[in-house]
Amino acid sequence: MENFLKKKSINNNGILSFEIKDKRTRKVTEFYDEKPFPNYKDNDNKHTILNKGDKNFLANQFKKFIGYKKNVLEVGCGTGQLSNYFAIGTNNNVVGLDPTKTSLNLAKEFADNNKISNIQFVNADIFDDVLKDEFFHFIWTNGVLHHTKDPYGAFKILIKSLKKEGYVLVGLYNKLGRLRTILRRCIFKIFGRKIIEKIDPTLRNLKLDENEKVAWIRDQYIHPLESLHTIDEVLKWFKIHNIDFISSIPSSDFDYDYENIFEKKSIGTFFSRILNQFLMIFNSFGSDGGLFVLIGKKK
Ligand SMILES: C[S@@+](CC[C@H](N)C(=O)[O-])C[C@H]1O[C@@H](n2cnc3c(N)ncnc32)[C@H](O)[C@@H]1O
Repeated sequence: MENFLKKKSINNNGILSFEIKDKRTRKVTEFYDEKPFPNYKDNDNKHTILNKGDKNFLANQFKKFIGYKKNVLEVGCGTGQLSNYFAIGTNNNVVGLDPTKTSLNLAKEFADNNKISNIQFVNADIFDDVLKDEFFHFIWTNGVLHHTKDPYGAFKILIKSLKKEGYVLVGLYNKLGRLRTILRRCIFKIFGRKIIEKIDPTLRNLKLDENEKVAWIRDQYIHPLESLHTIDEVLKWFKIHNIDFISSIPSSDFDYDYENIFEKKSIGTFFSRILNQFLMIFNSFGSDGGLFVLIGKKK
């Protein structure tokens, strides 16, 4: 793979590594070191991860839209399930970046065991700005920036490495949409795990094993660093950095077409955006943590 780093790294068992110096990032990596997220099942392999990715409508559409021979970056790839999914069966160059070493070891082990060779993992903090400018055609960062000390600061850095005409997908916890999880977090703090297993829709999924359940509970209910955001906030980030709005989930207008999320959609009005985020409290978008997603294209 062509060199995509602008700073010198150390090769640590095949993972390109940088020292993680920032105190707040280290606090987060220590949290994930204890229980890497998302965890693999003992019997996971290329086929199960492909199957899981294909069932995830966002990841599936992203992978189809990428096509072939592209440079793809996942910021905050954790254990690399999605990065590996994006690499399987393609000739894209996939890069998964994450400061948590334990998660990346699992990501790399999975790639090696399954002979996925078009992928490279980087152990780095996004704030250390190690990626070359305008290198990637696609950037995916879902469920990550709200776990950093400065989500906009992280966006500002990662967007530099996106090529012109390249696409970025950002997923963050929503200020309104996460309300149900915040309520469940209070219940968890008072009554503990037994009750939460009954009322959390993800935990009710019988296919999850114990490792996955514990990783989910920790991530949702006892995370040391998280912030909440809105569509309009990310639209401001897009505007400052010359990113054209393509679409969002939930929709920014009243069209609700999620079939082709890479087709340009209406940006709506402040009222339509707020209303759709408010509705997350009641509909399925707010049930699993209250993530909202924006897709943009660099001008
Ligand atoms: C909730 S996990 C999400 C993992 C993966 N994106 C997913 O959707 O399954 C958050 C990830 O963000 C990573 N992260 C936290 N701070 C970061 C930073 N400063 N730079 C890059 N990644 C970071 C964590 O190490 C962790 O793996």
